[in-house]
Amino acid sequence: MDSPLFLDTHFSQINDDQWENLFQLSKDKSIAQKREDLFTGKKVNLSENRPALHTALRNLTKKPVYVDYADVMPMIEDVWQQIDRSCKKFAGVTDIIHIGIGGSDFGPRLVCDALKNSPSSEKNLVKVHFLSNVDSSDLASILAQTNAKSTRIIIVSKAFTTVETLLNAKAVMAWLDAQGIQPTQASKMIFAITANPELAKQFGVLDDHIFPFWDWVGGRFSVWSAVGLPIALKFGFDTFQDFLAGAQAMDQHFLQSPDVLNQPLRLALALYHQQKTLNVKSQAIIPYAQSLNLFPHWLQQLEMESNGKTAGVDGQAVPFSAPVIFGIPGTNAQHSFFQMLHQGPEVIPVDLIAVHESMSDIFQHQTQHQQLWANCLAQSEAFAIGQGDSSNLNNYYPGKRPNNLIVLPRLDAFHLGALMALYEHRTFCLGVLYGLNSFDQPGVDLGKKLAIPIEEALRSDVTDVSKLHPVTAQRIQWFKNPHF
Ligand code: F6P
Repeated sequence: MDSPLFLDTHFSQINDDQWENLFQLSKDKSIAQKREDLFTGKKVNLSENRPALHTALRNLTKKPVYVDYADVMPMIEDVWQQIDRSCKKFAGVTDIIHIGIGGSDFGPRLVCDALKNSPSSEKNLVKVHFLSNVDSSDLASILAQTNAKSTRIIIVSKAFTTVETLLNAKAVMAWLDAQGIQPTQASKMIFAITANPELAKQFGVLDDHIFPFWDWVGGRFSVWSAVGLPIALKFGFDTFQDFLAGAQAMDQHFLQSPDVLNQPLRLALALYHQQKTLNVKSQAIIPYAQSLNLFPHWLQQLEMESNGKTAGVDGQAVPFSAPVIFGIPGTNAQHSFFQMLHQGPEVIPVDLIAVHESMSDIFQHQTQHQQLWANCLAQSEAFAIGQGDSSNLNNYYPGKRPNNLIVLPRLDAFHLGALMALYEHRTFCLGVLYGLNSFDQPGVDLGKKLAIPIEEALRSDVTDVSKLHPVTAQRIQWFKNPHF
């Protein structure tokens, strides 16, 4: 099955014999069987005893997918219809405030931003404001731009217990009140997208304003669910479906292509090999497309929350796991940290993501697009081939720096969906290669737990230090009586 994207791994610094060994490794690790388990709803998230069925959310063929012997496709179709109806119902709405964090934010934020200049989705029907940070300046800057009467609020939280999201939601409700919106009217203006509808109802969201998703959808894989509602509201339901269709095309490619042509698998094997043989600790993701500015942010959560772990599926420590993912668009990145990528002592592999068609029709756009491409290709060659010799270290480019080129024909909803699914499957394959469960995130809990007594201490007049670490207790005292 062909991929909608083009992948060139010529500069991955992996020779034919090594590729052969890597494809053998993929067989030894049973990636094909585990991929089948993923798509067919087996409980691949072992610690939480659930499937990870984000692929069902974009199964536009509607072929049944079973969780505990029940086909989930009818529920998914119902939500598609709910989204479609909302697109019509939201006519006249000028602004959406989408409140959510982590997986309930990065995906829809990326898509809304990436497609805003795309000629094929130029509808831009509403302005979507993404409110994630509990820092109230995030809220303040959004509220300053919106008119309460023509705004709708969407609270997005899988658990509906996330402190930042609930605090921001309460603040927005208080703002509606301060704008003279009566409670009955306000309840008509809020919506919730959640796997915990009971808590949404308790918050005051009307039954038919709740868009469900399910515990078998991981937060960081949830953009394909109703979490993607703002994509449909901003660009139309057809565009949202194109986005799903692109991901589905990548799913089919991942499922059906032989290993040697399988793009997610190749990307995962290449990175795993580089980590193992070159002691790689980080990877740069450089989109040569300004519209993909947020892509590295989205990928950071996907890869590092999924695979940044020590515990393997057997409870034993794995030798290595996810690298640090970072990146900003080229050519800007070239004038920032590329010095280190070319000449630093550490090898940092790079994925260069380019778009074949220019995404603007402004005068000179072809010339600028050629310049963008020239830079992308030149950097790729410089990383791989290098220049000079080590007798003059200052002018020496060691080369042999692994990099891949990924190309989208154009930046539209379909190809963006395919790109995001490509990396989701890369993350999945890497998780199998590392030998860990990519679908839980136990490492985020400690900080959340510790924040509870700290927040209480910050709020109260007397600081009860008995439950706090002495350094934290001292910092709290300092916060209450700062001295600069
Ligand atoms: O803190 C981590 C996390 O649980 C992420 O996995 C998730 O995407 C984010 O918080 C938000 O969670 P929720 O959608 O339940 O509010």
